[in-house]
Amino acid sequence: MKRRSFLLAAAGAAAGLWWLRPENRGRGGHEAYFSELSAALQREGLARPTMIVDLDRLDANIAAVRRAVGPRAFRIVAKSLPSAPMLEYVMARAETQRLMVFHQPFLNAVAASHPGSDLLLGKPMPVIAANRFYERLRPGAFDPARQLQWLIDSPERLRQYRELAEARDLKLTLNVEIDVGLRRGGMGSPADLARMLAAIREDPRLRFGGLMGYDAHAVLPEALGFRAREFERVEARYRGFLEAWRAQAGDQREEDLVLNAAGSPTYRLWDDVDGLSNELAIGSGLVKPLKFDIDTLAEHVPALFIGTPVLKVKEGLELPAIDMGPIHQLWDPNRARTFFVYGGYWKAEPVSPPGLVTHPIYGRSTNQEMLNGSQQVDLAVDDTVFFRPTQSEFVMLQFGPIAAMRGGKLIDSWEPLPQVA
Ligand SMILES: Cc1ncc(COP(=O)(O)O)c(C=O)c1O
Repeated sequence: MKRRSFLLAAAGAAAGLWWLRPENRGRGGHEAYFSELSAALQREGLARPTMIVDLDRLDANIAAVRRAVGPRAFRIVAKSLPSAPMLEYVMARAETQRLMVFHQPFLNAVAASHPGSDLLLGKPMPVIAANRFYERLRPGAFDPARQLQWLIDSPERLRQYRELAEARDLKLTLNVEIDVGLRRGGMGSPADLARMLAAIREDPRLRFGGLMGYDAHAVLPEALGFRAREFERVEARYRGFLEAWRAQAGDQREEDLVLNAAGSPTYRLWDDVDGLSNELAIGSGLVKPLKFDIDTLAEHVPALFIGTPVLKVKEGLELPAIDMGPIHQLWDPNRARTFFVYGGYWKAEPVSPPGLVTHPIYGRSTNQEMLNGSQQVDLAVDDTVFFRPTQSEFVMLQFGPIAAMRGGKLIDSWEPLPQVA
């Protein structure tokens, strides 16, 4: 009797386990959209890992931002679209000259490629990097005193920039970082800002350009009013800092300041706010990498993909030194086929054909990444696998020229921004 109940329990457990098996995620080959992209890559002889931006989708995202920012200005986050011709494309369609820059070589590159641009630093640069910017700045139409705002986050950094201005006999415009809740530094209170403003006013070489308050943390769950409550705090903190400036504004006009707020995840939260900030920063949302699949960007569409050729196809799955026979596939139908692709291990996930997965034990490879899929994954040697980057910054710099495509055709080839200057 005991033995029989044991056997029944064991059979029940096995059936339960069987029921927990991963589902077969393979659904054939590419859908029409990716088949077209794949054909375009092959036509263009791009049989190597290629970063693709879909211009129709990029246009749709730019249009969504333009509709939403309303009377505010739109500042493009350059690190998230790191290519001069790509920035040119977005600036023209968005009708803005405003860029937010985060890297000294990009700063020099953009000042050279876009002498009419209006640049705001998105993070405080070490003063040695700021000095290098001036050393490497090619003479031309770009006037840093008027067109560039350095970001200052502390009294010590202000002291360093004051010394830089004196040493190089420069006029500097300084934007002040304020902490609206992100807890990433900057002025912690309106009183800190008031002291900073007074110190800036003391030096005729320095000009106060405005405030930068980034609020990415505010995309909290909407449940129980978490998000609304935190965003109210963001607004209140921003208002507190602005009041500190208003109290000692002198003859400086508020509309002449750069009052920067938001980023892709949060720009829609500013829809109902009157005044306070006069511009919103948006970059990644224009190409919508995977990490930006969030409800505030529901109107945006993915526009960035990596396409790479399949080098090898094997039936089954073999791991080096361990012969597991068909056990893998018995448990997980998504381990029935093995593919090796050209490159890999990017900050990206395979998206087409559907159902491809990496292997936790075999490991990752930047040279030839192994992917598995079920019998239903239709993929042969020399076909293309498509990945979606999880972020755009940095990943877009890893492939050389970016393939700008429209309607399944290569329209242009965009060099990424340089990493040296
Ligand atoms: C200061 C600042 N503003 C805005 C952004 C938003 O960039 P994105 O729109 O690419 O998320 C960032 C991103 O890191 C940032 O650091």
